[in-house]
Amino acid sequence: MAEPLILGIESSCDETGVGIVRGYELLANEIASSVEEHVRFGGVVPEIASRAHLEAIAPTLNRAIEKADVDLAEVDAIAVTAGPGLMGSLVVGLSAAKALAYALRKPLYGVNHLVGHVGVDMLEHGPLPQPVMALLVSGGHTSILRIGNIVRDVEEIGATIDDAAGEAYDKVARLLGLSYPGGPIIDHLAQAGLATAAAFPRGLTARHDLEKHRFDFSFSGLKTAVARWVELRRRDGEEVNVADVAASFQEAVVDVLTAKAVDACGVYGIDTLLLGGGVAANSRLRTLLALRCEQAGITLRRPRPGLCTDNGAMIAAVGLELFQAGVRPSGLDIGANSGLPVSQVCL
Ligand code: KG4
Ligand code: ZN
Repeated sequence: MAEPLILGIESSCDETGVGIVRGYELLANEIASSVEEHVRFGGVVPEIASRAHLEAIAPTLNRAIEKADVDLAEVDAIAVTAGPGLMGSLVVGLSAAKALAYALRKPLYGVNHLVGHVGVDMLEHGPLPQPVMALLVSGGHTSILRIGNIVRDVEEIGATIDDAAGEAYDKVARLLGLSYPGGPIIDHLAQAGLATAAAFPRGLTARHDLEKHRFDFSFSGLKTAVARWVELRRRDGEEVNVADVAASFQEAVVDVLTAKAVDACGVYGIDTLLLGGGVAANSRLRTLLALRCEQAGITLRRPRPGLCTDNGAMIAAVGLELFQAGVRPSGLDIGANSGLPVSQVCL
C-alpha cells in the first residue's frame, strides 16, 4: 500500500508553514515569514503576526501543493498546530485546517508544536527508537523530554525555570544592540569571538542546585550577567568586543544544555538523543553536542538546520505518526491551546 500523504499546517508564531509528506518523504515545506514586520519592535507583535498568517495561509498552501505535485483530494489526513503559541496566530492555521478537513472529508489532527520540533528528525533519519531522550530548545521552551512513544508517551523530565534558550539569545542580542531574532546573529558573530573572554555563569549547575534541578535550566541570571559585564566596561570607557561577548554567552548556554542532556541520557539509561527547536540550528550547540554524545557513547540525531525553525513539515511528521498509529482524529470542534503542555501530543 502507498505511504500516507499528510498535510501539515503551522502558524503558532511568525511563520506560516505548510508541509506535505508521503510517509517520511518530505515533498514540500513552504514557509512565509512575517519576521521583517516585527524587526523594528524587537520581537513578535501578535496582532501583526495574526494578520500576516491570514494573508499568507492560502498562497502558502497553494505553493506547497504545487511543489509536492499532488492533488488535495489525495491527502489522507490534515495535521495542524493546536498549541502552544500565540492565540491569534494559532486560530488562523486551525481554521484553515478545519476548512480543508471539512471540505475534503479527511481526518484532522490538532498537534503539539513542541512535539513537532523533536519529531521532524524522522523525515531525515526515519522512525525513532524507543525510548529516546530529546533536548528541545526553542524561542519559548527549553526542556529535556523522555519519549517512549512519540504519539502517546512524552514526559518532560526537566525544563527552564525562567527564560527559554532562544529567548536568552534574543534578549542578549537586544542588549548588545543587535537585530531580531538574535539567535542566528549571535551564532554568526560568535564565530569570530573568543569564548573564554568572559566567564559567564552556568545556571543551575552548582551542587546544591543539582539536587532539586538536575535537568532544569535557568538563563535569566546569565542574561543579567552579560548586561552587567557590558555595562561596567562601557561605563569605564572600555571598548566592548561584541564578538567576544557573543561567543562567551553562547558557550555558557550550550555548555549547560549539552551537559544536562547527556547526563539525562546516562541517568535514564537511554542511548539516543534527539535535538529539536529553533536553537537546534545553532552551530556551536550542534558541534559541542555531537562531541559530548560521542564521548558518552550516545547516538545523536539532529535535523538539518533548515528543519529546526518553525515549519509545516514538522507538524505533518507528527500527524503521520498519529495517523499510522490509528489514533482517533481530533474533532472539528477543537480549540487552540496557547499553553498546551508538551506531554499532550494531540488534542
Ligand atoms: O523554534 P522556533 O523557530 O520558534 C519557537 O517555537 O519559539 O525558535 C525560534 C528561536 C528564536 O529565539 C531564535 O533566536 C532561535 O530560535 N534561533 C537560534 C538560531 N536560529 C534560531 N538560536 C541560536 N542560534 C541559531 N542559529
Ligand atoms: Zn517553534
